[in-house]
Amino acid sequence: MIKNWSRRFSENAVNYEGYPIGKTLELLASNPNLISLAGGLPSPDVFQKAEVRLATKRSLEGSRIDSVMQYSSIPGEKALFDAVINYLKRDKINIKEENLLITTSGQHGLDLAGRLFLNQGDLVMLDRPTFAGAIVAFDLNRPKYIGVDIEDDGSNVKGFRKKLEAIKKKGGKMPKFIYVVPDFQNPTGISMSVEKREAMLDLSYEYDIPVIEDSPYKDLRYYGKIPPSIFSIDQKKYKGTNVIGLYTFSKIFCPGMRVGFNIGPAEVIKKMCNIKEGNILNTPKYNQDICAAYLSEMDIEKHFDNCRKYYKEKLKLFLGEMEKNFPKSSGVSWTKPEGGLFLWVTVPEHIDTEKLFYEAVEKYNVAFVPGWQFYGGKPANNHMRLNFSYSSKEQLVEAVKRLAKCIKDHK
Ligand SMILES: Cc1ncc(COP(=O)(O)O)c(C=O)c1O
Repeated sequence: MIKNWSRRFSENAVNYEGYPIGKTLELLASNPNLISLAGGLPSPDVFQKAEVRLATKRSLEGSRIDSVMQYSSIPGEKALFDAVINYLKRDKINIKEENLLITTSGQHGLDLAGRLFLNQGDLVMLDRPTFAGAIVAFDLNRPKYIGVDIEDDGSNVKGFRKKLEAIKKKGGKMPKFIYVVPDFQNPTGISMSVEKREAMLDLSYEYDIPVIEDSPYKDLRYYGKIPPSIFSIDQKKYKGTNVIGLYTFSKIFCPGMRVGFNIGPAEVIKKMCNIKEGNILNTPKYNQDICAAYLSEMDIEKHFDNCRKYYKEKLKLFLGEMEKNFPKSSGVSWTKPEGGLFLWVTVPEHIDTEKLFYEAVEKYNVAFVPGWQFYGGKPANNHMRLNFSYSSKEQLVEAVKRLAKCIKDHK
């Protein structure tokens, strides 16, 4: 009988711990009195349930069921390809089929990017903090991270430039890519200004480094006008190919479908498709059918308007409760996002939010994600991510009260 399995694990896997948020969320599932602001769940209140029931029925009707029950085309189904290509025109993105790969959600898109570009020890440039799931996906390939603190208007592009200049001066290896979430970044809710999107591209061309633009929240803007994606600016300004776009329907439609897509230069997409052949092969045909119907037959603008109205109310309420419960004297501050699902809270430096998390869950029945999980490289320990999309309004009010008491009582 084999006793020591870990000795046999690959070098990439042996110290790989996976997703810390997953373990955090597991801990919460067993407590019914707990209000969790930890997950990143959209609200079922805005799910298009009747439409999905109808699309399901149609997708399974007559002989259509034969293809639903079969393997699907590996890059993705034609109907979804057409619908996605059309959907991207809203952002003035024009792509051909060779520039598109259907993925089995955003996390799969990130995994493909990590596997495609990263060798052990390669550098990835990113914001501090950034999406924990991206770090988890990239970590499997054992890269190193160069992070720069994010600013109120998005990535610190000048800070990125300084780091690149320093590497160049020393004759070091350049990062393989820059990873950013320009719209309502997870975890901070911060959006990148148009000027910075342009500056990011300039940097990409100057140093010959691709940008990976992860874009799950773009349509969930509750205030102001939706800015062009970096991908779109690249096409317009540089007729370019420096950006790889990662998208998912999880936040704007429903996460249960696990469907998303990657866009980029044909050569990159072809290779990602080769990797998909090895790691997942198909994205379920049935799920693709529903997503194609969502994009092409359901009224997505109406759906987005509905989501925006719904989440805006929650965001407004939540920010109001934060204001009420955390006076200046508390030393607590937070971001004021214009969309998305999260805000980012900074507590006084002496508070370690990992420790606070256990107090919050065990004594106060409220949960958040400790901020350290969102750093590639050395973490900061006095932050937390709060989600405002999933809990009911009553729960949001109560959760902020509980959190304020927990922080106040913390020794
Ligand atoms: C920035 C970002 N990228 C990707 C994902 C992964 O999305 P999915 O749930 O479709 O795998 C998320 C999910 O929270 C996210 O916030």
